[in-house]
Amino acid sequence: MSDEITLTLPDDWHLHVRDGAALFSVVPDTARRFGRAIIMPNLRPPVTTVAEAEAYAGRIREAVPAGVAFEPLMTLYLTDKTRPEEIERAVASPRVHAVKYYPAGATTNSDAGVTDLARTFDTLAVMEDHGLPLLIHGEVTDPAVDVFDREAVFIDTVLIPLLQRFPRLRVVLEHITTRQAVEFLLATEDHIAATITPHHLLLNRNALFTGGIRPHHYCLPVLKREAHRQALLEAATSGNPKFFLGTDSAPHARAAKESACGCAGIYSAHAAIELYAEAFAEAGALARLEGFASRHGPAFYGLPHNTETITLRREPWTVPERLPFGEEELVPLRAGETVGWRLV
Ligand code: DOR
Ligand code: ZN
Repeated sequence: MSDEITLTLPDDWHLHVRDGAALFSVVPDTARRFGRAIIMPNLRPPVTTVAEAEAYAGRIREAVPAGVAFEPLMTLYLTDKTRPEEIERAVASPRVHAVKYYPAGATTNSDAGVTDLARTFDTLAVMEDHGLPLLIHGEVTDPAVDVFDREAVFIDTVLIPLLQRFPRLRVVLEHITTRQAVEFLLATEDHIAATITPHHLLLNRNALFTGGIRPHHYCLPVLKREAHRQALLEAATSGNPKFFLGTDSAPHARAAKESACGCAGIYSAHAAIELYAEAFAEAGALARLEGFASRHGPAFYGLPHNTETITLRREPWTVPERLPFGEEELVPLRAGETVGWRLV
């Protein structure tokens, strides 16, 4: 197996960078590894208008290190009240590339999300007409549904009916975690795609309980059984352009994670492409990493792929125990442990 791999500069198609001082802690990690990133709009308050998204893009750009070219690709947060006119403005904006659908209460900062999808049908119809992608957090919120089943139930009870109503709607099912999601994707047309995170490729749900409860491995959708991880690894390394890179790197202060009610989110931006290289190497599929990381996403979003390259070398390095996070600190994925690949 080769010890060095050069890739077209990748992009991250699902990223949380927060706001304010935190931007200066986390944006450089992504900007060093990726040309562009789809920026999640789940701030408090959420980014619901094009004007807010453009202002947020400006704040993100200020946190990009000098001499580094990095472009934030902005999204709007879909609410019950999002009007078709806002979608028209989004389509006209060179900064806004998608709309994010959080079922209300599904995850971090999703309380302003959609309470009843029927309330958004006029808006979705305009998105369908313009080809503006809908990025979906695909989990039902019904507390009666087992937390490990919420993605599979969402596909059957929400997503399939949605696509029947809007058959041309461009959709990215974000951070898929199950074999059912992979099978669903394989049975759909090309305008339905999915992102896969590094943590769902590398960890199964045992990682939540190794030697005790492990809050830094808690995210949503929650880690699943090994059989699901295997299905994701197969999908990511298959070469199928429906599957592409989206880290869902989601930084939280250490105290907010190490708590009696710790919040969901895993920070991976400090080693994102290196972790994907590990997963692909494990599967003997390093030659497929470039498609997944650098080609399939731009093709789906109708953007050119990057022209620069990055090189990764098989050379272990130790991840710091903590990283700065604004005035606080965070615990990154693999804290105090090694990552097998290094950015040259
Ligand atoms: O684990 C997660 N964290 N899942 C999400 O959907 C949101 C994210 C966050 O914003 O922290
Ligand atoms: Zn996310």
